[in-house]
Amino acid sequence: MTTRTTSAAPATLWTMRLDRASPLPLSRQLAAALREALSEGRIDAGARLPSTRALAAELGLARSTVVGVFEQLAAEGYIAGRPGSGYFAAALAAPGPASRAAPLAPRPLSRYGERLRDYGRLAPPQGRPFELGRADIDNSLIATWKRLAARVLSGRSSIAWNYGDPQGEPALRRTIADYLAAARGVRCRPEQIVLTSGTQQGLSLVAQVLIDPGDAVWVEDPCYRAIVDILEAAEAKIVPVPVDKHGLDVAAGARRQGPTPRFAYTTPSRQYPLGMAMPLARRAMLLDWAAQHAVWIVEDDYESEFQAPGQMLPSLQGLDRAGRVIYLGTFSKLVFPSLRLGYAVLPEDLVAPFAAARHLADRQSSGLIQAIMTEFMLDGHFARHLKRMRACYAERQHFLIDQLTRRLDGMIEIDRVESGMYLTAWLPWDWSDRATAAALAAAGVSTVPLSSATLETPRRPGLVLGYTGHSEAAIVRSVETMATVLARPTGLINLPKADLRSDRLSA
Ligand SMILES: Cc1ncc(COP(=O)(O)O)c(C=O)c1O
Repeated sequence: MTTRTTSAAPATLWTMRLDRASPLPLSRQLAAALREALSEGRIDAGARLPSTRALAAELGLARSTVVGVFEQLAAEGYIAGRPGSGYFAAALAAPGPASRAAPLAPRPLSRYGERLRDYGRLAPPQGRPFELGRADIDNSLIATWKRLAARVLSGRSSIAWNYGDPQGEPALRRTIADYLAAARGVRCRPEQIVLTSGTQQGLSLVAQVLIDPGDAVWVEDPCYRAIVDILEAAEAKIVPVPVDKHGLDVAAGARRQGPTPRFAYTTPSRQYPLGMAMPLARRAMLLDWAAQHAVWIVEDDYESEFQAPGQMLPSLQGLDRAGRVIYLGTFSKLVFPSLRLGYAVLPEDLVAPFAAARHLADRQSSGLIQAIMTEFMLDGHFARHLKRMRACYAERQHFLIDQLTRRLDGMIEIDRVESGMYLTAWLPWDWSDRATAAALAAAGVSTVPLSSATLETPRRPGLVLGYTGHSEAAIVRSVETMATVLARPTGLINLPKADLRSDRLSA
């Protein structure tokens, strides 16, 4: 349909494009439909768009949603606002027949690209307390890493200098398989391991090889935000499954109507962000359900190693007898995140497509880093490093709890967790954790509001604080700042929700 009028274009032009069953927010669908109509010349340059009120009424959207979309498109140059007169289509590519066939500027993106258009600018981390997931880099680690890097670089091994096995170097995969068997009870052959650039890539590849648009996926609620972004980009239907004190509530998930999910995403050893471990009985229940319904389980085992040794439960993967578990691990937490090295342990059937997807994405992990990591593990440095960090992180957590208790007692409550790399500070029930996090960020303290990790199950407001990689002096200063900010709660109570995007990097 072509709109050639300077009066308001009929809103029905877009009605068909809004799919309320899609996991993609309606605002993004509307923005994408408008961009397409404008760049394909279906709305002439200069044509007046319907008023935001009329369009909102026609499409059954909140007016603020339409205003937000129009402002975004104006910022991108697709439309222009004239005070008092509304919004008009901007002049884009020359609307001749040739340009209709092959539009030039701005070039329409793929559907995937369109979905990522509104993802937001990714701000680099600033290293401020209490950013999550920072590693403590001690002198011993630096000295060892330098020595091993020099050793690897002075050798002539092709692995360090040339293209290698896309699945990962066999020596490193063997070492990882031995380590995982001993430390996490994972049962696998090295051939089932595909190295990744970290769990983030592991999750993206899982979505690529398992999900078609519209497929249902169970996601823990609350959850690690990146899985939601990845699934939204894959057009999956996200099914939030609440977490109780034993982790993912399998019975609650099973009670939900709807199609069988393709997979269930879970962090059983230390639920992110609430921190509890899934006991054996719940693990057995989850595995039985997955086997019965032929559902894959994606086990994100991101920092189990920092729990006290006696309290670590074996991985789900090791308990699984039906071959349903995809186990994802990462050296980001265990050693340091800039390595960009992780591993996926896959059921036999999934190895080939997963390895191919990795190969297509970026061919392989750095051979140099793999060679150093192999020596780091084989020479016993890795085990010693984990032992040192376990003690260091436990001590840092006690230090933070001590500071919070001294300075913020009565304002927040803290759940005692078994070590790990972060904890949750609970705020009073009627506070907005987003507003509190925003006020703290303005004062130089970084926290993740619990509600940004929440899908639909309401919970007490709280702030997730990472304590690793931050010095004791920085912790003292930041707790002091928290005490000042939280002592003036005006404006922190029940404010409207802030934009989720600002939480993306840290959660
Ligand atoms: C729950 C959880 N899973 C996975 C990761 C992924 O880390 P990476 O991509 O660095 O391996 C993180 C990092 O913050 C995390 O918190």
